[in-house]
Amino acid sequence: MNLSTLPRLRTAAVAIALTLSVAACGGGSGSSEAASPAAGGGDASPAAGGEGGSADGELISVGFSQVGAESGWRAANTQSIQETLTEENGFELSFSDAQQQQQNQIQAIRTYIAQGVDVIAFSPVVESGWDAVLEEAAAADIPVVLTDRAVDTQNEDLYVSFIGSDFVEEGRRAGQWVSEELGTEPINVVELQGTTGSAPANDRKAGFEEAIADNDNVTITASQTGNFTRAEGRQVMEGFLQSEGAENIDVLYAHNDDMGLGAIEAIEAAGLVPGEDIKIVTIDAVRDGMQALADGKINFIVECNPLLGPDLAQIITDVVNGVPVDKRIVVEDESFTQEQAIEALPDRQY
Ligand code: AHR
Repeated sequence: MNLSTLPRLRTAAVAIALTLSVAACGGGSGSSEAASPAAGGGDASPAAGGEGGSADGELISVGFSQVGAESGWRAANTQSIQETLTEENGFELSFSDAQQQQQNQIQAIRTYIAQGVDVIAFSPVVESGWDAVLEEAAAADIPVVLTDRAVDTQNEDLYVSFIGSDFVEEGRRAGQWVSEELGTEPINVVELQGTTGSAPANDRKAGFEEAIADNDNVTITASQTGNFTRAEGRQVMEGFLQSEGAENIDVLYAHNDDMGLGAIEAIEAAGLVPGEDIKIVTIDAVRDGMQALADGKINFIVECNPLLGPDLAQIITDVVNGVPVDKRIVVEDESFTQEQAIEALPDRQY
């Protein structure tokens, strides 16, 4: 396993006992209860030595349902998972791409249940509507690990662990930067939201609004989904330029780099200079976004680290071997100004 790709992690959980009834039943793990380890360090990195696999030496079978291939972030996330959950590392991975459709994910999860995999992992395209299929997984004694995005459920026993970034905090940091750096005079912000109903769209919007709430100079004048894709980002930005008038748009806040990059195309096609005529703030910090930041076309990026594979491998290995896992593992993210992007780009992994 490649330890150099480890995300920087901190655990959100304190040392509380968690009843992980689902976890205990699947994959031949032992007890029906597990307590999360104490916070403080919260190292969820792959086991020293980097080997996955069950205690009896068998490969761990994993069904993973990915959101889709909508962005550079997603491509890096898929690569990290596929490069880590390999036979060499002790896993037998079944991977499926849901093409941003919840029904496809539900179907994939049902297929993994029917196959009797040891562990199911998935990144839910939207937050709500998962209880029924998660109950089916629980009834089949298959533990479920959430990666990247959360589900909205009243019954948190339906999954064993959730690893991913704090999307509210990402939105908050973007809003703080806009408020502090640009909100010293009245400014109009247009917002490109992620996929409607998804955790990152909901949370990044909420965090941003919270951060600008006390600054009367900052107003969100238009907000629409661009579904996290470059093509839709461009299309929606073209609409904003028409409906709002370019002269009335000071800032674009895009929930990911790809939508921001699509919007840059629309801004340039309108004869304007991105990063100057319209300031741009995005989230992800994938290579193309960082390059645009270094080139001055984007003004600020909040990172969302996609390299979840090694940590997912560790969580799965622990679950199968009856080792307690944290219910919530938060990936730590950085943020980048233009100067910082220029410095970081040569070593950027994604
Ligand atoms: O869930 C993470 C988000 O999904 C990324 O920020 C975005 O690029 C992706 O589509």
